[in-house]
Amino acid sequence: MKLQYQLTIAFTTLLVVIMTLAGITIYAQMLQMLIKDEQRQLADKGELVVDFILSQGLNNTDNVHRLLQLISEYDLEVFAYDEGKEYIIFSSMPNTEMLENWVEHYNLNSPSQPLWQGEEDRYVVSIIPFLSPVSTQQLVLLTPLDDLQGVQSSLINRLVIIFLMGIAVAVLLSHYLTVKLVTPLTQLRHQMKKIEKRQFDDMETIKASGEIKEVEESVREMADELNSFIQSQRHFFQNASHELKTPLMTIQGYAEGIRDGIFDGEEKDRGFDVMVAEINRLKKIINEIILLAKLDSEPELYQPDVIDLTEFMERVMERALPIASEKGIDISLTQNEQVRLYADEEKLLQAVMNLVANAIRHATSKVEIMTTIEQNKLMMKVQDDGQGIDDELLKKIFHRFIKGESGDTGLGLAIARAIVEQSGGTIKAMNKSDHGALFTIAFAKFEKNPEK
Ligand SMILES: Nc1ncnc2c1ncn2[C@@H]1O[C@H](COP(=O)(O)OP(=O)(O)OP(=O)(O)O)[C@@H](O)[C@H]1O
Ligand SMILES: [Mg+2]
Repeated sequence: MKLQYQLTIAFTTLLVVIMTLAGITIYAQMLQMLIKDEQRQLADKGELVVDFILSQGLNNTDNVHRLLQLISEYDLEVFAYDEGKEYIIFSSMPNTEMLENWVEHYNLNSPSQPLWQGEEDRYVVSIIPFLSPVSTQQLVLLTPLDDLQGVQSSLINRLVIIFLMGIAVAVLLSHYLTVKLVTPLTQLRHQMKKIEKRQFDDMETIKASGEIKEVEESVREMADELNSFIQSQRHFFQNASHELKTPLMTIQGYAEGIRDGIFDGEEKDRGFDVMVAEINRLKKIINEIILLAKLDSEPELYQPDVIDLTEFMERVMERALPIASEKGIDISLTQNEQVRLYADEEKLLQAVMNLVANAIRHATSKVEIMTTIEQNKLMMKVQDDGQGIDDELLKKIFHRFIKGESGDTGLGLAIARAIVEQSGGTIKAMNKSDHGALFTIAFAKFEKNPEK
């Protein structure tokens, strides 16, 4: 069943249960309240009648007439009773049998009892004594319970109508609120279906607030992430197949040429040299692809340990010096900090060496390597004085197979980024304001001036 109906049904059921309980309680209390109220009214009116009798007396017909008028005005059923003489002095009630019954059965010792059971009906009784030390006379006022029950059922009817109207309004309100709550969820489900079908361009924004909005934002971020992952996988396969195809075609060309006797002598030897070089290149690309895949999927490949930065930079320089001197490039290291960090030394060396090798390849005359601490971060900087990096290339320089004109496989920086990020660092590339490119690796976690 739809969530919207479930919520409406749950809310309505709760409301009906609460209202029914409230109704039963009110019904049970109402008769008691009506009886008490009637008794109080009877007592008030009785007092007035007694006052009249005591003050005016009933000696002349005029007074009797006025008394009867007062009684009918108040709509009273009343009689005066002398308890001592067990004698009814006067009565406004035509039913004398009922009076005799009352005299016989009513227990005057507990006059506070509100209800008296007559032969057929029940009555609310109020007894007012004539205030005189010698008098045993009392005024007795009666109201049939039927009258009160009539009032009660008309009140209950009204109450039921109000309850039903209340339930109807509450159901409409709950329906409106649940629709408001459930609609964004339904829309979100549609958006998620689109993600499932990879229709990322058709995604729409949902009007929602609170937690649902937060979920919608998370779903959107997830979709963006998934989309860019799928795109990068697609580009990766396109680029990888292109990169593998080019050397394979060269090898095929030379191999077929040699087989068909097109290349001979020196050309044949050159063909073999090119084939070996292209096979080495293929091997390098495949090894780098495998390494990248492993860095992504096999965290155990990465074995971090404590690295002493000074010793680490010495190893970098040892490897960089022969490459730099072969190219006639001046290479220098500036290192002021004694620092230890925690990373996989061999992998980090590979990452930094790719930066250094790139810098030597693109430098005009010199490459500078520096380690500093800036804003509580350990920085490793590699800069050269070459042409710098083209703006378009700079945006995606860390992507796989992205390379410039003088580039090789275009995987070195992608590998470097994967290694640096696995080590808890970040890597950035930029052009210097004068000439050349600057690559910076930053680590937030490191140990400064460690004790040996
Ligand atoms: N210091 C630099 N100055 C100018 N361009 C650079 C510099 N470093 C890298 N680049 C550009 O970035 C591209 C990508 O570099 P990356 O190291 O990823 O690949 P590569 O050097 O071409 O191949 P690989 O490192 O896999 O042998 C390079 O082809 C080059 O065009
Ligand atoms: Mg490189």
